[in-house]
Amino acid sequence: MKVLVVGSGGREHALAWKIAQSKKVDKIFCAPGNGGIKEIAELVNIKADDVVSLLKFAKEERIGLTMAGPEAPLVKGIVDEFTREGLKIFGPVKELAMLEGSKVFAKETMKRLGVPTADFKVFSDAGKAKEYLKEKGAPIVVKADGLAAGKGVIVASSIEDAEAAIDDILVKRIFGSAGDRLILEDCLEGEEASILVFSDGKTITPLVSSQDHKRIFDNDKGANTGGMGAYSPAPVVSGELFDEIIDKVFRPIINGFAKEGKSYKGVLYAGIMITKDGPMVLEFNARFGDPETQAILPRLKSDLVDVAMACIDGTLDKIKLEWDKRPCLCIVCASKGYPGPYEKHKEIKGLEDARKVKDSVVFHAGTVRENEKVFTSGGRVLGVTGLGMDIKSAKEVAYKAAGRIKFDGIYYRNDIGYRAMGRENG
Ligand code: AMP
Ligand code: GLY
Repeated sequence: MKVLVVGSGGREHALAWKIAQSKKVDKIFCAPGNGGIKEIAELVNIKADDVVSLLKFAKEERIGLTMAGPEAPLVKGIVDEFTREGLKIFGPVKELAMLEGSKVFAKETMKRLGVPTADFKVFSDAGKAKEYLKEKGAPIVVKADGLAAGKGVIVASSIEDAEAAIDDILVKRIFGSAGDRLILEDCLEGEEASILVFSDGKTITPLVSSQDHKRIFDNDKGANTGGMGAYSPAPVVSGELFDEIIDKVFRPIINGFAKEGKSYKGVLYAGIMITKDGPMVLEFNARFGDPETQAILPRLKSDLVDVAMACIDGTLDKIKLEWDKRPCLCIVCASKGYPGPYEKHKEIKGLEDARKVKDSVVFHAGTVRENEKVFTSGGRVLGVTGLGMDIKSAKEVAYKAAGRIKFDGIYYRNDIGYRAMGRENG
């Protein structure tokens, strides 16, 4: 079978790497891919959100399975388009991808289906939003409705900061039409975890838990990023709590949709805050997490192609996922300056030495391969993973491999997994 992976990040390298292990797969294409994916797939020069060109390519090449990594093509309706042409594609239809594409849709769905989440109100008028803000006070969370490249959520610690965020979104319109509406939401406190499930619309099969590190500096300080590291499992989500999240979050959503005649297929990701009142949903994603996927897939023993096909065909009840019990930890190596401006095209050295570290895999994100050399091409450059008997040893493996990689301006956090280790140690 030929498989097409859509996207170019570390998540897509992890997906392609896992798909390459399937005996059913003869050839992998990736659009547009990166320098690491190029080792295992043929790169296709089509942007991840160019649904029309992707469809044409998949038809011509008779692709047997398409996996869309990022949210943009899903929210644009890539699953609807491919399915209409009889092509198999993993992911939710456009209407349900709006769980990620519209925060208003996600909050209203949660309210309707009884999923625990922070109290909220929706506004399209800045004056009315500010009146409500005065009533509620700070801290408060301001969220642009639509996709805003990960920048649309502002956790405001003062009324002034919240007012500025309201003006940015509704008056200055810094996110364009993604900011036609916004949400003002109660600020929750607790520890976060990422819980993902596979779904075929009826059966819900959880993946192992994970947690990411969103801030740029050690001790979770500094600016928010796309994610500086991740690990799986997340010890904060004990067995009982994990089951509670499946029962209170995923079953109501997926079964609720089913009762309304809508079938959620693919992977559903919930960002959960573990509060003193129990788990609450912060956000949904209609796709795999990045960098969580780099820490989850090295633990998956089952064939991902079988799982993806079962989600599409409605036969997920026939599949039992097998997992490596060992934890996995992923360190993101970034370009100096990220998430602000950074320089590109720095040669990356030491990848072969890093490859020799046992139980480690290096996933590429912002890289390009030119002849036999690999260069940086993005803010997040590599995701270096390690498996170990516990999070501490997984961390040692990952840092050992990361230590062998060199490029001008390489930056990574030194404390990935610190929360988990605190818990593991007692
Ligand atoms: P994003 O991934 O861009 O949707 O941002 C979500 C992040 O904003 C979460 O990971 C939380 O850290 C934070 N966040 C979102 N909603 C809340 C909330 N109600 N209370 C506190 N923090 C929140
Ligand atoms: N790691 C957060 C995300 O994938 O949205």
